[in-house]
Parts: sequence; structure tokens; C-alpha cells
Amino acid sequence: MSAQTISTNLGVKVVNHPLAQSVLTRLRDYQTPTSEFRQKALQLSHFLVYEAAADLSSRQTGVETPIGPAMGITLSDYIILAPVLRAGLIISEAAQKLLPNARIYHVGLRRDEQTLQAIPYYSRLPEVLPVESTVFILDPMLATGGSAIAAIDLFVGLKVKTIRLVSFVAAPEGIEKVRRAFPQVKIVTASIDAQLNEHGYIVPGLGDAGDRIFGT
Ligand code: PRP
Ligand code: URA
Repeated sequence: MSAQTISTNLGVKVVNHPLAQSVLTRLRDYQTPTSEFRQKALQLSHFLVYEAAADLSSRQTGVETPIGPAMGITLSDYIILAPVLRAGLIISEAAQKLLPNARIYHVGLRRDEQTLQAIPYYSRLPEVLPVESTVFILDPMLATGGSAIAAIDLFVGLKVKTIRLVSFVAAPEGIEKVRRAFPQVKIVTASIDAQLNEHGYIVPGLGDAGDRIFGT
């Protein structure tokens, strides 16, 4: 993707590519049915993970083409996908295609709709991870930031080298909270939306991502 299709500001990379934006528009539409929503969510996930992986470490390697020797690269990071349940599973599905050797650690968080606090209900992380790990936290919605912070915190505690947060849509409130708590964590998103409403939903957003992906 060209420089014009990406804007990077204060640790936030916004993927403005028309393919990504047209897919996001279908996700925003309340009339988009579940089957199309899933398919478009997978497509957007591909674009965002591709961009989030842009600065993965690599090492040079030689290869023989049918015509002769060529130089290339192989990825050298220990890559971890951390989908935040439930909605992050859709990004994980796309990410596994792009990063087939990635390890996957699921993080179960449920947002209490009254208090908007993220309540942890599942995680099984190892006691140590290789320091050269790059972790992609996958969650389509960055709203208050509570879920993202809880997920990031798990991996910061394990002292991994790099953490990226991949979201479809981010609210300014959530971005600010994550950037303040973890300035080292780069956020990759398709949109910075206007604000949160009084129920903690992103405006205009796309509604409840988990419900729309799983048809619940
Ligand atoms: C949604 C969404 C994020 C979280 C964002 O999850 O998928 O994980 O809310 O909100 P926050 O930034 O204010 O924490 P939800 O708790 O509804 O769970 P679900 O994915 O299982 O539907
Ligand atoms: N979770 C969602 O799924 N959507 C929002 O707008 C906010 C939190």
C-alpha cells in the first residue's frame, strides 16, 4: 500500500486504502447481513494484519529459482496472535492465513455493559515467552480501551519485544487510554471514529461486533 493510503500519527496507523475503506463501509451498514458481515470482516482483517506486520523482523536468505540464485528474506520474529474473545476470532482467522507459523493465545474478556469494565474469563499464557516475540492483539473494537488494556497488560507482564493492537474501528477515548498506559504499543486501525455514546458504543462505529459476526 502506498504512503497516501496510510496515515500514521502518535503511534496510530490508519489504513485509508480504498479497498479497506469500502469493506469497512459495508461493515458499518446496519442492513449488511451476517453472512456478508463475516466475509467482509475477514477481508478487512487481511488488510489490517498485513499493515500491522509491515515492520516484522527478517533475516536475509539465499534461494535457488529455476533460473539461478536469488536473495530473499525469512521472518525471524516469534509471532503470537492474541484474539480477544469473541469478536477478535475473525481477525485471527485471517491472520493465520498470513502468518501460518504464529502461535495463538486466546484472551477471554467480557465487557460489563453497566460499568463498561473488562472482566477477564479466560487466558492460558505460558510463564515465559521468547523476548523476540511480536504479539498482535486482535480486537475489532477499541471503545473505552478497557479490554485492550487488559489484554496488552497480560503480554507486557511477559516482557515481549513488540506489541501491536489491530482494530477495525477505534474511538479517540480508547486510543488515548491505550497510548497513555502503553505508549510502546502501536495501534493499526481502519478508522478513528468520532466518540463514544453514553452506553460506551463507538459513534458511528458498526454496532456490536461480536453480535454481528456471530449473528447473536
Ligand atoms: C466488545 C469488543 C471489544 C470490547 C471493546 O467485546 O469486541 O472486546 O467490547 O470495548 P472496550 O474498549 O470498552 O473494552 P464484548 O465485551 O462485547 O464481547 P464479545 O466480543 O464477546 O461480544
Ligand atoms: N463493543 C462493540 O462491539 N462495539 C462498540 O461500539 C463498543 C464496544
